[in-house]
Amino acid sequence: MVNKLKKIPPEFKKLLKVTSRLSRDLGYDIYLVGGIVRDLILERGVFDLDIVVQGDAIKLAEKLSKKLKVDFVRHHSFGTATVAWKGHKIDFALARTEKYSHWGALPKVKPASLAEDLLRRDFTINAMAISLSQEDYGRLVDLYGGMSDLKKGLIRVLHQNSFLEDPTRILRAIRFQQRFGFKLQTQTFLLLKQALKKKALIWVNPHRLRDELILILKEPKPCGYIRKIDQLTRFHFLSPRLKLTDSDFKLCKRISQVLQYYQQDNRLPRQPQGWLIYLAAILKGLSFKAIEKVLDDFAFKKGERMIVISIRKGLLKAKKLKLLASPKAVYCFLNPYSLEAILFFYAFYPQIRLRRNIEYFLAELIHKRTELNGHDLKALGLEPSRLYGRIFKSLIYAKITKGLKTKSEEVKEARSILRRLTREK
Ligand code: CTP
Repeated sequence: MVNKLKKIPPEFKKLLKVTSRLSRDLGYDIYLVGGIVRDLILERGVFDLDIVVQGDAIKLAEKLSKKLKVDFVRHHSFGTATVAWKGHKIDFALARTEKYSHWGALPKVKPASLAEDLLRRDFTINAMAISLSQEDYGRLVDLYGGMSDLKKGLIRVLHQNSFLEDPTRILRAIRFQQRFGFKLQTQTFLLLKQALKKKALIWVNPHRLRDELILILKEPKPCGYIRKIDQLTRFHFLSPRLKLTDSDFKLCKRISQVLQYYQQDNRLPRQPQGWLIYLAAILKGLSFKAIEKVLDDFAFKKGERMIVISIRKGLLKAKKLKLLASPKAVYCFLNPYSLEAILFFYAFYPQIRLRRNIEYFLAELIHKRTELNGHDLKALGLEPSRLYGRIFKSLIYAKITKGLKTKSEEVKEARSILRRLTREK
């Protein structure tokens, strides 16, 4: 028997050994399951762990969290618990079956054997387990041909109704197919098409679809995934009016290139959220109202909505960036926009002058900060008021146009701005 845990990174090895000992003390059998098993076999990186427990999952998680002196969260209604460990999540769940009251609904959960637990899962490649019990530690449990499908590069459902019971699996199938360069097994592909014909994606709670979509857009190169979704079902599950064109796919590719460059640029004040740029590209053809409806219906977070809307609103205006010649004008135009919007404009408009302005903004202007702060202004005799905002803005402009560098230069400038503002009053 080959020990499938041989290649797990050393820190995880220790963690699994500790968990294994605790489960033995409690008299439970436990297994590593799902995507982590697939990734271990494919020798991909390890991040989060899913552990199925034949016993009280919450009790085991609690014991582990005490032992490691880390936090854990219990989810009573599902009988599951999550231990947070060194930036990783370790999920513990009772081995269970799921019954759906109607297709697309959340399932009712019942304790079950490991075989049943594996059978309820999405695809054979995600339905394998590795024993963490002391007597057969590291043994692969492959009851449904997962290993053979991994070798053949096939995505295969475990039963006929898989896509109907949980239509998010349609998006998951595309995600895994694209990520690993696999094929959908013939019958699985037919079942997926049938589910799409029945408009299964519309039955699902939009939040679940949103989460799947975000996972897709967060993949390192999501253009192929976007094209595949468009090919199979368009993005009608977001809005019936959505229709992507060749120019949208080209835009996706350019976004990919821009992100590849700027995600490695550690001079930027923060990492851009690339997935939002792709989302804006998908929604670009819709009216403001239709975009707002999608963002509302799928309950995107406030900050995310603002970014997508601002991209759509700024897109036409951004054309004039190519005409701007002074650094101050470039700063005034781009500074109100999010990093994501600016990168979108860069990908959207190929004109050299426009792109140079954005490059200059991202390399230089975005970093402009005043040396002075509120305390310094107070020390100059100015009580806190809305004037502070105007002074800081004018100081930044002065830094850009006059090249102020030191704090004393800024103090001098602040005094002169103050005098000017007082005269204006
Ligand atoms: N699962 C499922 N049906 C779903 C979602 C999940 O059967 N709709 C099962 C699969 O066995 C999956 C496991 O739950 O492997 C864990 O789900 P998740 O963490 O979402 O997926 P991973 O397979 O780990 O994929 P990723 O590598 O993207 O995290």
